[in-house]
Amino acid sequence: MTITHADTAQIDASVQAVVRRSAELEARIAQDPGAFRVLTGDRPTGPLHLGHYFGTLANRVRLQEAGVELFVLVADYQVLTDRDVADRLPDHVLGLLADHLAIGVDPARSTIFAHSAVPALNQLVLPFLSLVTDAELRRNPTVKEEITASRQAAVSGLMLTYPVHQAADILFCKANLVPVGRDQLPHQEVTRTVARRFNERYGPVFPVPDALLSAAPKLLGTDGGKMSKSRGNAIALSATEDETARLIKRARTDAERLVTYDPDTRPEVSNLVLLAALCQGRDPHEVAAEIGTGGAAALKRTVTEAVNEFLRPIRARRAAYAAEPGELLRVLAEGNARANAVADRTLAEVREAMGMRYAG
Ligand code: TRP
Repeated sequence: MTITHADTAQIDASVQAVVRRSAELEARIAQDPGAFRVLTGDRPTGPLHLGHYFGTLANRVRLQEAGVELFVLVADYQVLTDRDVADRLPDHVLGLLADHLAIGVDPARSTIFAHSAVPALNQLVLPFLSLVTDAELRRNPTVKEEITASRQAAVSGLMLTYPVHQAADILFCKANLVPVGRDQLPHQEVTRTVARRFNERYGPVFPVPDALLSAAPKLLGTDGGKMSKSRGNAIALSATEDETARLIKRARTDAERLVTYDPDTRPEVSNLVLLAALCQGRDPHEVAAEIGTGGAAALKRTVTEAVNEFLRPIRARRAAYAAEPGELLRVLAEGNARANAVADRTLAEVREAMGMRYAG
């Protein structure tokens, strides 16, 4: 399966529509945050990094602080989409929890849970699978891309169907808002299709959730490629100051001494400028102008300081949480209990709507 122009065009068209809709949604969130329930999540495959932070994590905390109800999913079953075995799950799950608490997700207001701990959520996948066709599953452009990138010898049934599982992740708690990056838009369409078709077939049970596309600029890895743990080009929230300095020292730049912010013609240099600017809450052009003709060395010094200073309080809080795994597990257990209560209610409604409540 390869990505075609039609796939790219399909994503581009939906991006434009979602960008317009996202602006409307932001206005409504500002007016009435209580009308929204957000579900968002990550696969526990490794530590979260700055790409995650500026791409989605900061937005989660912003929504929580705006008064939106937040569910954060640790998508452990979804790890198995592109690998046979999920490695070191307990470490990665506790790491995700520590990362979220350190950046300000508040377990008193928000629910953090793992989907393997919520049986009723997973049971929703069965009726939901009946609502999509195999052709729809096979033409999902993000799934196609992941199949191409995967090193697995064969395409598993989970790889093809996980977007439907993701619909269960979202619909079990009747979330009506899902903050996403571009690559998740096809999945969001699957969720909307499942919700619509369920409601048409069995009666109104689910909201049709909106995607909220983040306005955050895209951060690249230190090598100029996509920032990703597995490529060794990502600055983890949990990295030490020395590790951070070393990674930035190795970052790719160019031979031009005048530092500018020009992402199209100088992607690597501009990405470093952007990183410093995001950490300092400043305009990237201003940051570049300040470094001026200092060249790559001055740029890297600025970036290293900006990143380490920005992450210092987050890292301190993270270390404190990581030192208390019992506390992290208690937060997870509480989140799981809350998610189970919500999922049990939704599954009861679903079985009722489908005529599957016989003896209780
Ligand atoms: N697919 C998402 C990712 O890889 C993780 C995820 C699983 C998710 N279920 C979700 C995201 C539901 C949003 C909503 O990042």
